[in-house]
Amino acid sequence: MDNKIISFRSPHLILAGVGSLERLGEEAKALEAKKGLLVTDKGVIASGIVEKIQAPLKREGIVIDIFDKVISDPDIGCAEACIEMAKRDRYDLILGVGGGSSMDIASVASVMCTNPGTVQDYLGVNLVKNPGIPTILIPTTAGTGAEATPNAILTDIEAKLKKAVVSPYILPRVAIVDPLLTFSMPPTVTSSSGIDALTHAIECYTSNNATILTDLFAREAIILIGRSLRTAVANGNNLPARYDMSIGSLYAGIAIANAGVTAVHALAYPLGGQFNVAHGIANGLLIPYVMEFNVLGDIPKFAQIAEFLGEKAEQLPLLEQAYRAPKTVKAIYRDLKIPQSLTELKIPREAIPEMAKAAASVTRLMANNPREMTVEDIERIYEKAL
Ligand SMILES: [Fe+2]
Repeated sequence: MDNKIISFRSPHLILAGVGSLERLGEEAKALEAKKGLLVTDKGVIASGIVEKIQAPLKREGIVIDIFDKVISDPDIGCAEACIEMAKRDRYDLILGVGGGSSMDIASVASVMCTNPGTVQDYLGVNLVKNPGIPTILIPTTAGTGAEATPNAILTDIEAKLKKAVVSPYILPRVAIVDPLLTFSMPPTVTSSSGIDALTHAIECYTSNNATILTDLFAREAIILIGRSLRTAVANGNNLPARYDMSIGSLYAGIAIANAGVTAVHALAYPLGGQFNVAHGIANGLLIPYVMEFNVLGDIPKFAQIAEFLGEKAEQLPLLEQAYRAPKTVKAIYRDLKIPQSLTELKIPREAIPEMAKAAASVTRLMANNPREMTVEDIERIYEKAL
């Protein structure tokens, strides 16, 4: 039994599976769209995916303009450029196509077309008053789960921090998750985005806000991603592995929307904000150390994570089973050959006190962490990762 009230938010409609993109036209038509703005990045344009998006829309007589200036880990300026274009015409649909950056910028542009002021006014939780222009989000990576979350993450360059517009209106009307769109991802992107998804799943499973409902999604995401991440990186044409990664990433996104991530993301943010380390890489480097610290906060759940990741450790005492979880995660990331230390990323020891303070200030995520973490604890975790 769980004493918590189960609360559940998700996109109005999720279409997921091989070939689900074919349904885009009819869903856009059901939203009464006539003219859409497609928000994406130059990489997606180069991959030829935009033509695949346009075809089902054309069949329904829906025309689109394209904003292709989304950058990775987008800042507020990137959002403002997209908002300006979105306000220039009378769009009745905004499509976000790409990784989390494109989907988040699309969602922010959608709500900024129907709410006064600037995007800075809405950085925070539940500050958006009006629903935005209808959105359809279509991931081309398997990682962020942004198609299913009410959070749009933006970099505040001046504060050197990631901030978020958190609102139910950031959730899309339709999320289309078609694994076929992820085949164009190179191994490095498959790896860093997949690591992000596994981090989401593990953090949500152990979040203070987890419920028996979010556990369903987080657990399944850990299993799917845990068994297929290595293969998806090693052989990008392996459909079963790509399928597991897409569905796992979606499930992890649903878990984020309702349980929330914890200290790994809080500790990873300063690496991105201050040293431009890619989001997935920062998470992957830090998660084993944060998990090691967190084990004592929820021993049974960490023991279960080890089991979901394929560890056969029933014969061991529960605490030892639990400590197998960070070890198993570390083994996966070692196989993926991602950077294993802050030193490798050229982050010096002297940077740790400021990073620790910045991480501790992300109270929205720290509150979810299963074990209380002081600034000194955070410093020690960064030192272990040096
Ligand atoms: Fe993430």
